[in-house]
Amino acid sequence: MKATATAHPNIALVKYWGKRDERLILPHQSSLSVTLGPLSVTTTVEFLGGDGHDEVTINGKVAAGSERARVVELLGLVRSQTKRRLGRAKMVSKGDFPAAAGLASSAAAFAALAVAARTAAGFARDTQAESILARRGSGSASRSVQGGFVRWNRGTRADGRDSFGEQLFAASHWPELRLLVGMVSREEKEVKSRDGMRTTVETSPYYPAWAKDAEAEVANLIPFIRRRDLEAVGAIAEKNAWRMHSTAFAADPPLCYLKPATLAVIQTCAELRKKGVGVWFTLDAGPNPVLLTSKTDEAKVAKVLQQHGAREVVRCRPGGDAEVG
Ligand code: DP6
Repeated sequence: MKATATAHPNIALVKYWGKRDERLILPHQSSLSVTLGPLSVTTTVEFLGGDGHDEVTINGKVAAGSERARVVELLGLVRSQTKRRLGRAKMVSKGDFPAAAGLASSAAAFAALAVAARTAAGFARDTQAESILARRGSGSASRSVQGGFVRWNRGTRADGRDSFGEQLFAASHWPELRLLVGMVSREEKEVKSRDGMRTTVETSPYYPAWAKDAEAEVANLIPFIRRRDLEAVGAIAEKNAWRMHSTAFAADPPLCYLKPATLAVIQTCAELRKKGVGVWFTLDAGPNPVLLTSKTDEAKVAKVLQQHGAREVVRCRPGGDAEVG
C-alpha cells in the first residue's frame, strides 16, 4: 500500500479564475494549459493500516495548518472511495522548483499526491479519476495529471464528475515551444489565488463577461495549438491574461497582482515583437510573468527576464504525464 508519483506544474494560456462550487472546486469556465517540464514534484504515499494521524512532510518539513489540512482532506477522499482498510497514511513530498523562479508548485503537488494516493490504495491508473481527485486539492492541479496541452472542462454536473483535465495534444506535438519563468519581483503576493478569485466572483461587475469570454477563448485557442502557430497562441494568452487581471482590478477591494517590474517586462515583450522576436507573456495571480517563445528566440528572451531582475531563468518546455514509480 505504498506508491510514488511525479507530476509537473502547468501554466494556463486561458486561465481558471472563479469557482461555481467552493467545496468541490468546480470552475465557472473551462481553461487550457501547458504542462511544464522539467520542473516536478515527487510524492510518496504509504497507507499504514493502523489508526492515528496522517504524517505529512513537504520539502523536508512536517506540514501544519492549512497546508497539512488540504493533504489530509485529499487522503480522506481516497479512503472514502474504497472498501479496503487503508488506515493512517505517511506522505512525503518534494519539489525540485528553484525558489527563484517564483512559480507555484500546488498544481504539480496535488496531481502527484492524487496519483500516488490512488495507486497506493490499490486503484488502477485512470487519468480522469486522478484529475477529479487532484482538482479537489487545487483546481489547476486537475490539469497536471496529463502532459502536453490540457483542457480542464468546466462540466455542467453538480457533482463535478464531468469537470476534469483532458489532454488535447501530447508534449511531443510542439517540442520547440519554450516557456521561460523567472522571478522579477521578490515581493510576496498579497492575496492568494483562492481568495482573490472568490472576491472577484463576488464583487467584480465584469465577472460574467470574463467567464463567457474565457470559455470562448479555450475553443478559439485549440486550432492555433494544432497548427503550432506561436503568434496566434501568444496573442490569445496575452489577451486572456489581461482580461483575467482586468476582472480582478474591478473587484472590491481591487486586486492588482502586477508590480512595476511586471509591467516593464510586458512592455519589453511588445517592443521585441516589433523587432521580430517572437515573445508573448502570460501572468498568474502574482507579479512574475511567464514568457512564451520558441527555441530560436529563447536566449534573447531569457535576457529580458534577467535585465528586469530575475536572478535565475528556468527554461521550460511542454512536459509529460504524471508518472508512477
Ligand atoms: C491564476 O488552482 O491555485 O493560476 O483551486 O483555489 O486551489 P484553487 O486555485 P488555483 O488557481 C490558479 C489560478 C491561476 C490560473 C490558472 O492556473 O488557471
